[in-house]
Amino acid sequence: MNMYDIIYKKRTGNRLNREEIYYFVEGYTKGQIPDYQASALLMTFFLHPLTDGEIVDLTTAMCQSGDTVDLSPIEGIKVDKHSTGGVGDKTTLIALPVAAACGVPVAKMSGRGLGFTGGTIDKLESIPGMKTTLAEEEFLAQVNRLGLSIIGQTTNIAPADKKIYALRDVTATVDNLGLIASSVMSKKLAAGADAIVLDVKCGNGAFMKSAEDARALGKIMRTVGRTAGKNMVVLITDMNQPLGNAVGNSLEVIEVIETLKNKGPADIRLLSLTLAGTMICLGGLAETPEDGFRKAEEALESGRALEKMTAFLTAQGGDAGVIQDYGKFPQAKERRAVLAADTGFITAINTEAVGSASQRAGAGRETKDDPIDLSAGLLLQAKIGDRVTKGQPIAEIFGNDTAKLENAAEIYSAALRIENTLPICPPLILDVL
Ligand code: URA
Repeated sequence: MNMYDIIYKKRTGNRLNREEIYYFVEGYTKGQIPDYQASALLMTFFLHPLTDGEIVDLTTAMCQSGDTVDLSPIEGIKVDKHSTGGVGDKTTLIALPVAAACGVPVAKMSGRGLGFTGGTIDKLESIPGMKTTLAEEEFLAQVNRLGLSIIGQTTNIAPADKKIYALRDVTATVDNLGLIASSVMSKKLAAGADAIVLDVKCGNGAFMKSAEDARALGKIMRTVGRTAGKNMVVLITDMNQPLGNAVGNSLEVIEVIETLKNKGPADIRLLSLTLAGTMICLGGLAETPEDGFRKAEEALESGRALEKMTAFLTAQGGDAGVIQDYGKFPQAKERRAVLAADTGFITAINTEAVGSASQRAGAGRETKDDPIDLSAGLLLQAKIGDRVTKGQPIAEIFGNDTAKLENAAEIYSAALRIENTLPICPPLILDVL
């Protein structure tokens, strides 16, 4: 077997078998296959999309390229939650304490943000003292003790994905359904949960721009998960505007805490409770997702979810005093108001540009090792469907560098469309698969 024949076989429209897929994944991970041959093969997947069977084989090979986490020392049905990435998406930090407060054991490995999307681990690190690296025994013991732990992904989870993703990033091969599905699912399968709730984002702030593509991605990830014996539910949700009002690490965690105090924005509340309700149902603690939603709502409204969050932060060394005193978060030295350029209704928001504005203010990385400013970001004061008057403040930008803030404000202003007619607001939850 050799790479030339494998590339030729796929380029001419033939299905690759399991041995050929493993040959590529193992060889590339070990550095035995050069980037140029791996890139050529990745590009053939745009000419001849991977079949479901090929995606299953690719995912399994990538999953087996590194360590897999054994969650069997944790009692109960372990349920994971994953979002394909968006702007202002802080639902993990709400849905997980809610589900844990309802008895679902949650052992979650999360990633950092890259580019315009934020990552849960960066958000958590805006809490003074918070540890996001725990030894495996500590991680498992904490879940058994209080039902919830969230840590950064260890380096040896799906190393093949790490290498292939880095190559995709520089060869214009990221936005391929089979490659995204295998990348996401290889890490999810290695993380060891029994059931997974996937939130596939769809719209101008997501990889999948159309509902049709998002559904196709959701269906194939569901197939891959079920083939591996996991119980799966996929939500298709809107990303044509940021979720909630806060974008940027500490600003988002403050919005998380407000939501856990039952004072958060309606969209964040709805999606977080829907995700938590689905987790509760998959965890066998509710008959239906609707019943799970009611249980989740009760945990939120009674304050039990906030108590769970407090216990979780404290267990991982975080200063839970942030819950009462937001002044304990890293503070931006500068703020800049963005004013409406026109009078009318906000009819559209270029969500990816909002993520870029936040990144520009300092909240995101341009390359993977860049430092980030945990205090930087945006607070939106108007969203799609709101009527604004020329000169009215519509957002506030936070950071520590005047020039960057100016630039972020320009990017944000250009991201909005203001028109005379009231738009139809996009529904938040488009489908459940
Ligand atoms: N998230 C991932 O982990 N991989 C992709 O390919 C896209 C989004």
